[in-house]
Amino acid sequence: MKSFTLLAGLLFSSTASSAVQGIKSPKPPSLNHLCSVNFTLGDAIPIGSGPRGIRLVIPILNGTFWGPRLKGTILPIGADWALLDPKYGLDPDKSFTADVRTTFKTHDGEFIQITLSGERQSDDARKRTLVRIGMETGSERYYWVNSLVGLGVVTRPAEEGREFELGMEFWQAQL
Ligand SMILES: *[C@@H]1O[C@H](CO)[C@@H](O)[C@H](O)[C@H]1NC(C)=O
Ligand SMILES: *[C@@H]1O[C@H](CO)[C@@H](O)[C@H](O)[C@H]1NC(C)=O
Repeated sequence: MKSFTLLAGLLFSSTASSAVQGIKSPKPPSLNHLCSVNFTLGDAIPIGSGPRGIRLVIPILNGTFWGPRLKGTILPIGADWALLDPKYGLDPDKSFTADVRTTFKTHDGEFIQITLSGERQSDDARKRTLVRIGMETGSERYYWVNSLVGLGVVTRPAEEGREFELGMEFWQAQL
């Protein structure tokens, strides 16, 4: 009985002391810059309210990307097949789920398919938005992009009167 009490006391005190010291956060992965991106977007095409939400197709007309690991131009064969939440109506500032496919052509003539996806995190247009990035290629030179864990930050949201230019930064998460 005595040893049980002692054990319970040890367990309790160790729990108590770790609670006092707090739980240490593990070291977070780092982010390495891949490139800055300028997208030129076309007029949004309102597909309308369907079984999955309010669909809006935003064509990607062209663009450029430049950075330490990737640079080149964006081909005019992509779009954002975006969804709005019917709960908030047609206001893209209230809810917006991006679903982008587009193609990058690198300065040295290789092709990389890009997917971007993510939800608007705030209805404050000045706040930056994070999106997930996936990349796919058969190019030997850029084969490393197939396994990257990518994060995009929208730094300049598209605004009318600026030819629908949208700016982003692409980052690669690394351990
Ligand atoms: C990207 O877009 C911004 C804003 O329109 C512009 O100032 C900048 O020159 C563009 N950069 C490139 C490399 O196209
Ligand atoms: C991108 O497309 C827009 C609209 O068609 C055009 O004004 C602009 O010059 C194009 N930019 C590039 C880099 O091709």
